[in-house]
Amino acid sequence: MKNSAKIFQREGIVVQGEQAMRALGKELAGNLEAGDVLGLVGELGAGKTRLVQGILEGLGCQQVGTSPTFSIVHEHTDGSLPVAHFDLYRLKQPDEALQIGWDEYLTSGMVLLVEWADRFGGELLPEETVWVHIERVGETTRRVWIKATALR
Ligand SMILES: Nc1ncnc2c1ncn2[C@@H]1O[C@H](COP(=O)(O)OP(=O)(O)OP(=O)(O)O)[C@@H](O)[C@H]1O
Ligand SMILES: [Mg+2]
Repeated sequence: MKNSAKIFQREGIVVQGEQAMRALGKELAGNLEAGDVLGLVGELGAGKTRLVQGILEGLGCQQVGTSPTFSIVHEHTDGSLPVAHFDLYRLKQPDEALQIGWDEYLTSGMVLLVEWADRFGGELLPEETVWVHIERVGETTRRVWIKATALR
C-alpha cells in the first residue's frame, strides 16, 4: 500500500453523505496495491458497501454491484487491480470461508475487500489487514477510522 502512513492512519474522518463515502473509496483505491486486504467493520447500513463501490469505481471496474450477500464473494477483474469483495455476515462458522476458497484468495494477489471482517473476532483476516471502521453517527453522517496494523 502506497503512502500507508499518510492515507491509512486516519482517525475519525467525518463523511457527510453517501457520495462522500464513495469519494473516500476512490481516494483509497488510488493507494491500493496487489494483495492488499481491507477489513470493513460497521453495523448494518453503516456504509461498507458504499465504500467498496467507491473503491471499485476508483479502480475502473464496470460492475460496481451490491453486497455479495448471497454469494459471499464477488470477483471484479475488469479494473486496474483484481478485486475479491466478500461479505462474511452470513457465515456461521469460519470453516465456511475455507469452503469458498478463502486461503487461496489470501495468496492470490487480489485486493480483498471484506465486509463484516470482524466476524469470528477477525481471526480470518491476516495480520497486515488495513482495518476500516465505519460508525453511523446520524442519518447521513458517518465517522471512519482507518488503521493499518503492519505498515509496509
Ligand atoms: N455518509 C454516508 N456514507 C455511506 N452511506 C450513507 C451515508 N449517508 C447515508 N448513507 C446510506 O446508508 C446506507 C449504507 O448502506 P450500505 O449497503 O453501504 O451499508 P453496509 O455497511 O454495507 O450494510 P450491510 O452490513 O447490510 O452490508 C445506504 O442506504 C446509503 O445511502
Ligand atoms: Mg454491505
